[in-house]
Amino acid sequence: HADEYISVYEEIENIEEVVVNKFEDKKSEYIEGEKPLYVDGMIVVNKQYGLPKDFNPSGGKIENEVIEAFEEMKEAAKKDGITINIRSGYRSYNTQKQLYNAFVRRDGEEEANRYSAKPGYSEHQTGLAVDIGTTTGKIEGTVAERWLAKNAASYGFILRYPSHKVNVTKIEFEPWHFRYVGLPHSLIMQEHDLVFEEYIEFLKDNEVIKYE
Ligand code: DAL
Ligand code: ZN
Repeated sequence: HADEYISVYEEIENIEEVVVNKFEDKKSEYIEGEKPLYVDGMIVVNKQYGLPKDFNPSGGKIENEVIEAFEEMKEAAKKDGITINIRSGYRSYNTQKQLYNAFVRRDGEEEANRYSAKPGYSEHQTGLAVDIGTTTGKIEGTVAERWLAKNAASYGFILRYPSHKVNVTKIEFEPWHFRYVGLPHSLIMQEHDLVFEEYIEFLKDNEVIKYE
């Protein structure tokens, strides 16, 4: 169904209208440690906006919608001779805590903060983020890396931490970390070369959404 969305996206003049209609009902104000920030149905998780410790709507796994989208993307990649796999999906608050603490022990806090989210601040806790690898392991420098950078948006995924946006995301380049935002968001972001933080501002500037 990615193709359907793409043709819809190409046809409509006012994409913002579609966005607002689709997600109008799901907004919430942010309360640290209590309520996550949602913008037009998309949960925002970054250095600024975190999640409650017990936040776990996906039931300790990757969301079904995300698995379905990934499977569809995996099939498409396979047709191009590329194998992609999920290396890390859902991570609980405690798992992230153990990971983060291990990174801090290894590299120190300042360095760890450049590439690892603190517990409660990782997208992996939402069940909407996946770290993607190939059959042999890491994706860096592979054809799969290039395929994903180009095609993932067609399946609702965005490269969350691109190399040229480190100053915005505050996280180092991660060619493997993809966040599911769904269509048409992913395509709009790709078209305008916006990372999530910028896209939220973009929606705000266009008065697509109103949130404080
Ligand atoms: N490496 C990403 C930022 C995370 O820890 O969620
Ligand atoms: Zn990740």
